[in-house]
Amino acid sequence: MKKIVIIDGGPRKNMNTAKLLQRLAEGVKSVDKNAEIKVVRLYDVDYKGCMSCMACKLKGKASNVCCFKDALTPVLNEVAQADGLVLGSPIFFGEVTGRMRAFLEHLSFPWLSYNDYSLTAPKRMPVVLVETMNGTPERNNSNHFGTMEYCIATALGEPQHIVAYNTCQVASYDRYELGGFSEEAKHAWRDAHWDEDLQKAFDAGRRMAER
Ligand SMILES: Cc1cc2nc3c(=O)[nH]c(=O)nc-3n(C[C@H](O)[C@H](O)[C@H](O)COP(=O)(O)O)c2cc1C
Repeated sequence: MKKIVIIDGGPRKNMNTAKLLQRLAEGVKSVDKNAEIKVVRLYDVDYKGCMSCMACKLKGKASNVCCFKDALTPVLNEVAQADGLVLGSPIFFGEVTGRMRAFLEHLSFPWLSYNDYSLTAPKRMPVVLVETMNGTPERNNSNHFGTMEYCIATALGEPQHIVAYNTCQVASYDRYELGGFSEEAKHAWRDAHWDEDLQKAFDAGRRMAER
């Protein structure tokens, strides 16, 4: 049975990022109804970033899965053996959220050899990176996964990208000091693009299940 792990690095349970991830999961199921889909909401897991314990680099005991024991340990073990990995995050200050970044430190540091600087995961697998943001294709600082995308691409495989631009950040713009945004323009963008974004997420899930 295929196992897909979806890591949700956003704080909001039913907003843009979570909805795209949900649709992606439906895409997986549309191809393989028996696929096991594990969704991990990082904001519900108690962990910090890499603790620099160096246990993964110990002579004779080096490991390409994080050795530090905390609430992330079972998640990292599942990712190591998964058949597909989805990483979703809203963009905060031009990067993935701090939670996602902290997760990626645990995931990637054990892959990295300080002997020859190679990056090796226990298993290669298809990966989808999902990002949502206020930015538009014209005003978007790209490369939001930063150096981590290089690690992921090298150790797991070149990822597919799903990017939802110019998302609606709140249900009603009237209620907030958000004068830099026009609710009308936001809704017009949503009407023109959101269904397509959901479809792209669904298709990415389908492609992942087909591999
Ligand atoms: C703390 C914070 C920082 C943000 N920084 C950016 C940013 O740098 N660039 C951007 O395009 N959007 C930024 N946004 C907007 C979110 O990325 C966007 O609303 C996203 O779709 C929210 O995802 P969610 O609906 O799943 O929570 C920021 C939002 C918050 C709360």
